[in-house]
Amino acid sequence: MTISNLQLNSKEEYLSHYQQSVEHPEDFWAGVAEQFVWKKKWDKVLDYDWENARFEWFKGAQLNITENCLDRHLKNRAEQAAIVWEPNDPNAKNRILSYKELHQEVCRFSNVLRDQGIKKGDRICLYMPMIPELAIAQLASARVGAVHSIVFAGFSATAIASRIEDSKCKMLITVNEMYRGAKTINLKSICDEALKAAPSVEKVIVYEHTDAETNIEAGRDLLWKELVNDVSDHAEAESMDAEDLLFILYTSGSTGKPKGMVHHCGGYMIGATYTFLNVFQYKEGDIYWCTADIGWITGHSYIIYGPLAAGATTLMFEGVPTYPDAGRFWEIVEKYKVNQFYTAPTAIRALQKCSLSLVESKDLSSLKTLGTVGEPINEEAWQWYKKYVGHNQCPIVDTWWQTETGGIMISSLAGITDEKATYATLPLPGVQLAIMDQDGHEIKSQEAEGRLAIKFPWPHMARTIYGNHDRYKQVYFSAFEKMYFSGDGALRDKKGFYRITGRVDDVVIVSGHNLGTAPIEDAIDEHENVVETAIVGFPHEIKGNALHAFVILHDDVVASERLVQEIKELVSSTIGPIAKPDKIQFVSGLPKTRSGKIMRRILRKIASNDLSNLGDTSTLLNPEVVEDLINSKV
Ligand code: WT7
Repeated sequence: MTISNLQLNSKEEYLSHYQQSVEHPEDFWAGVAEQFVWKKKWDKVLDYDWENARFEWFKGAQLNITENCLDRHLKNRAEQAAIVWEPNDPNAKNRILSYKELHQEVCRFSNVLRDQGIKKGDRICLYMPMIPELAIAQLASARVGAVHSIVFAGFSATAIASRIEDSKCKMLITVNEMYRGAKTINLKSICDEALKAAPSVEKVIVYEHTDAETNIEAGRDLLWKELVNDVSDHAEAESMDAEDLLFILYTSGSTGKPKGMVHHCGGYMIGATYTFLNVFQYKEGDIYWCTADIGWITGHSYIIYGPLAAGATTLMFEGVPTYPDAGRFWEIVEKYKVNQFYTAPTAIRALQKCSLSLVESKDLSSLKTLGTVGEPINEEAWQWYKKYVGHNQCPIVDTWWQTETGGIMISSLAGITDEKATYATLPLPGVQLAIMDQDGHEIKSQEAEGRLAIKFPWPHMARTIYGNHDRYKQVYFSAFEKMYFSGDGALRDKKGFYRITGRVDDVVIVSGHNLGTAPIEDAIDEHENVVETAIVGFPHEIKGNALHAFVILHDDVVASERLVQEIKELVSSTIGPIAKPDKIQFVSGLPKTRSGKIMRRILRKIASNDLSNLGDTSTLLNPEVVEDLINSKV
């Protein structure tokens, strides 16, 4: 594949490809798939059945995604940088891995995995910071046919343990310590704690990222640097069926346990690559930077798999936007002459609050495309991004998608199709959208507002929830007949442009992190003084949304600041610091319907100080609590 083979170059081309993708989806995706390296071609492009929520793409085809991400580039790009790594500390040495070097490292580590008994289909948990070894371990896992489950390195021991247990990971790969801005965090000790409750793990490989001593449990823990010493830098890539598992990635849902979304080898690869090339309009020689963490789907698809399969140079940043100061992003753009920059609205809003001189003092003239993802972007942030980062020269791609969709679904194509502030705009080729009304009917009129659904399967969709296909069916395919339900609300304007209005379920997006309220409520309910908890989101200037917890205490307990701290600590240790509520309000009761369901609508209004219209409270079982909720507001 040359990059331009998969790129659309004009609005007309977009329209005609879109048309073809709707009329002949199989031909369209087969055409895209032709551009990749297959060990064996498919027997059938698509086989599906909405009833059982079963979707199979490129059945019978054989491939290994790492041959597409690495081996195929050795002919023409061996010396080209594959990964440019910028460390947390701006004065520490950066690292640049050419395609040839990355290939060697991945082969070495593949041999290590095989030496340690890892076989096709085994699950491996990766709990690591943003260092090249994370990419190497991820790709090596794919090369030997194992299934990686990357857990964001901000999650707590309890959260890792439940994820490891859910998919019975055999191995855990981590580091001794990680840096996060000015902080150093001992990941190994968090792992040691987690492993007490995760007995499926037989081996732990530790990469010593700092000089700190590593606590080693003999017989279980091994050191990365010792293992890679004497292994060959050649390793056969396992032959994988297009429908074999590539990875599991956990995402929160509106009920209890996180969902292990499963992505498979073939369809995911072509989806991530096709969307990467078209949305960002990456060109030969460009430097592309996505600021996400590889622990989230954005990092999987748009730091690793999409860019590498396309033969791009992808920048990986270990640190945070505010360290050593809030000019760090712009400094990195200037340092590496970044051409495409992809970040989240929460980061833009945080940097927008800082001194303009931090951005104005940097040379950002290399930038060609700006991207945003993760939550709706507000008009002010969009305009600031456009003006101060893009100097009104760069198109902004507002990309809507989800862990479940595997790749971008709605976005403009940089410089090719039109943009509109706060709108994700148009579906990519292959994506058939529907807006659904309250009664579950599709709204056919051009202008519409309702719930966002997808009417036809696409290759990069998650195929199941690990170990729980019924939940997959229920969450995504039961709201509307023969459609995938996204959980988001959306509107469509006169031109057919889509704007995402936010979640319509009990998931709140805080600083771009998707947080189900149920697991946080469960965590707080574990406190011995707590009877019941309800959590809702409320608008927050920088985070987009923040969490407000309404907590009922046992009768004999007196509310105190100490209790507030204990509850926050409990959430932090059970889920992770990102899930800590901003506000904790102790209440005498929660508004409930007669069937016992909490009326979150009322709590949302109270949390966002919108008391003007609380709606009909007469159907409540206990209307009197509303007054108390308002009076005890924090
Ligand atoms: C939810 C999915 C997809 C990568 C990061 C998040 C929200 C995502 C946008 C956007 C408005 C967006 C949706 C979606 N979202 N992108 N451009 N505009 N909202 O992945 O954690 O699976 O979250 O993020 O609500 O459902 P995720």
